Amino acid sequence: MTLWGGGHAEPPADALWRFTVSTADRRLLADDVAGSLAHVRMLRAAGLVDEYEVVDLVDGLERIAAEAESGDFAWADTDEDVHTAVERRLGELVGEVAGKLHTGRSRNDQVALDIRLYLRRAAGERIDGLRGLAAALVGQAEAAEERVVASYTHLQQAQAVPLGHHLLAHAWALRRDTERFADCRRRLDVSPLGAGAGGGSSLPLDPAAVAKELGFAATFDNSLDAVAARDVVAEYAFCCAQAMAHLSRLAEELVLWATAEFGWASFADAYTTGSSALPQKKNPDVAELARGKAAAAAGAVVALLGLQKGLPLAYNRDLQEDKEAVFGADDALAGALEALTGMVATATLDPPPPSPWVTAYDLAELLVERGVPFREAHEVVGRLVADVAADGRTLADLAPLEPVAVHDSFESGDVQFADPPVSIRRRRTPGGGSFDSVRDQIAALREWLGG
Ligand code: ARG
Repeated sequence: MTLWGGGHAEPPADALWRFTVSTADRRLLADDVAGSLAHVRMLRAAGLVDEYEVVDLVDGLERIAAEAESGDFAWADTDEDVHTAVERRLGELVGEVAGKLHTGRSRNDQVALDIRLYLRRAAGERIDGLRGLAAALVGQAEAAEERVVASYTHLQQAQAVPLGHHLLAHAWALRRDTERFADCRRRLDVSPLGAGAGGGSSLPLDPAAVAKELGFAATFDNSLDAVAARDVVAEYAFCCAQAMAHLSRLAEELVLWATAEFGWASFADAYTTGSSALPQKKNPDVAELARGKAAAAAGAVVALLGLQKGLPLAYNRDLQEDKEAVFGADDALAGALEALTGMVATATLDPPPPSPWVTAYDLAELLVERGVPFREAHEVVGRLVADVAADGRTLADLAPLEPVAVHDSFESGDVQFADPPVSIRRRRTPGGGSFDSVRDQIAALREWLGG
């Protein structure tokens, strides 16, 4: 069934039908019905349906809502889209009065409403999911106690840091992702219903009443913009894509950490897959797929920007394509969050200590504290490192007087600082890689997570 055709002398060609029908919007069913219920109540208040008609319409829509909820809603191949399917079903349930549902409304403002309702709710779910993964990282950071690892730049060991510091770096990124979703949700929280086909209506509609019933913070200011705008959909996709990029970075490290070469992590059997050929394998496929799905999520942002660019105002059918893009990115994030959270929460982290070379910077800072210019300290420690390495030794093998021999500001007791855990104890930068900082970060993140 179509919601049009009066002016068409021929039925739709099969090729047109196959190409234009939308099924990606079927997940909007419950939101479409919720929007219609609010619309019908507003029509009653405006005197556009009578007291009997409203009872039938509400009753029919509530039955459709129940069918949506139970999964019993029967789609027909002849439904052009979700909006058509609801109106078709309403007609089956309540008869001719169903024809009043579309009073003062177009699918243009209807679909804009539905996607906002859906994404507003999804944003809350994704925020919860991101918090869940952050909580798993905080739990691992807490369990890591005073375990020390190398931090890396250029994937070369750089400075010693608490393992917890490294894990929490990911948690802070996830926290920003939640803020991004919350911010996007504010812009989603505007109702477009009442904009109609784009120009508004001559009927006494009350967009504010519909917005209020659906819990929107505001209504549209310009009806053309209300039906044409998809910036919030693109923004939502970006929130997903950026979060997926963060998950992907974490995932890449999980993959690396589980290698025999790194040996930092092993994962619960329930969160690894086997190899069909190699019996010994426990593969980190969850992490790899999180990394892989980040690619298409980034692609969704590009698709949604391309969709808007060059579109004349206001509604164009191109906009139907927004759903596949944004739902794809959102589904990827939802799935990756669920699986990665389990993988991280159940991981065993047992990283080897970093090489003593990671204390070189701390040794240079000892000299700086004693008044030596940093450039000179860098040079001196660089020489010391080169000499020790030339002997096939590391900084841990330094004899007490060796540093003193390269610079008289060194003291014989300084060799103790060539030990990574000892060098960490000298760190004092707020937010830096010290045990105190990790404790503070855990407290701050726990407070954000609600205790
Ligand atoms: N299925 C359409 C979409 O997703 C609904 C709006 C259709 N409007 C129209 N004028 N054909 O965008």
